[in-house]
Amino acid sequence: MVSLSGFGNCWKACPVMAISCYDMVHYGHSNQLRQAKSMGDYLIVGVHTDAEISKHKGPPVFTQEERYKMVRAIKWVDEIVEGAPYVTTLETLDKYNCDFCVHGDDITLTVDGKDTYAEVKQAGRYRECKRTQGVSTTDLVGRMLLMTKAHHSNMVNYQQHTDNFGKGATAHSPWTGVSQFLQTSQKIIQFASAKEPQPGDTIIYVAGAFDLFHIGHVDFLEMVYKQAERAYVIVGLHFDQEVNRYKGKNYPIMNIHERTLSVLACRYVSEVVIGAPYAVGKDLLDHFKVGHGSRLLSVL
Ligand code: CTP
Repeated sequence: MVSLSGFGNCWKACPVMAISCYDMVHYGHSNQLRQAKSMGDYLIVGVHTDAEISKHKGPPVFTQEERYKMVRAIKWVDEIVEGAPYVTTLETLDKYNCDFCVHGDDITLTVDGKDTYAEVKQAGRYRECKRTQGVSTTDLVGRMLLMTKAHHSNMVNYQQHTDNFGKGATAHSPWTGVSQFLQTSQKIIQFASAKEPQPGDTIIYVAGAFDLFHIGHVDFLEMVYKQAERAYVIVGLHFDQEVNRYKGKNYPIMNIHERTLSVLACRYVSEVVIGAPYAVGKDLLDHFKVGHGSRLLSVL
């Protein structure tokens, strides 16, 4: 078990557990971990091995090492249990001193069709949180394979997006690529750090698409964060049309709303600029006080 928050062995009033595959980690997973953390005061996340996932539902897209790293980078996570068993038992919860575990309101089955949470549900040590609508690994893979741009955030797609919204899970084909995710100010507030830069912080600005947030992005943002003792990292996100202009095809695979949440969930990020200009000029750095109070650091 690896502690991420520096709490180490100190007293934890209510540790809670979330245990899953966490393959192709997206903001739906982050939102589940955010909700799980709010049900206790210390979040331990169990992540299954490749072998366990392959046995019960087929091979994962990302390796266990990649999946561990992605989960570690989510800011609500305090500890990771690598190789947590696919079936969650009372023994596992007791081992980590957790009163209960938290899962989204969908069911996970073993290869024999048994509910992987049956034992803990029966013992009353299971809590449910709401799944985030409009995102799943299947939907993201569908967008990539079908080369659709319907998920982009613009007025051309607006009618299609709203026409499809709210017709229920069966009306929403994962293969249309049309995200039913609707961004709200509440969701942004829930994900945002709400921290202003403090005197003595080094403000660092980085910009890009940060599409399909992956371990390359995590490695980069970790490196940026470590540039200073007290880094305040601002990530500028380009609008969908801008990303499409320089990446082509149907990129970005995740629209600006989705990319905002993916980046905000990362523990190395303090603030996000939603729709940052492509060119990084002096005005922009001055506006965000990049380098003020310490040395200038701009990583592109
Ligand atoms: N989850 C969620 N919202 C989503 C997707 C997943 O709240 N849109 C939750 C699941 O309910 C689970 C946790 O995130 O509690 C980890 O999900 P996991 O079982 O690893 O994956 P899936 O549920 O299969 O996610 P996906 O459909 O994206 O593959």
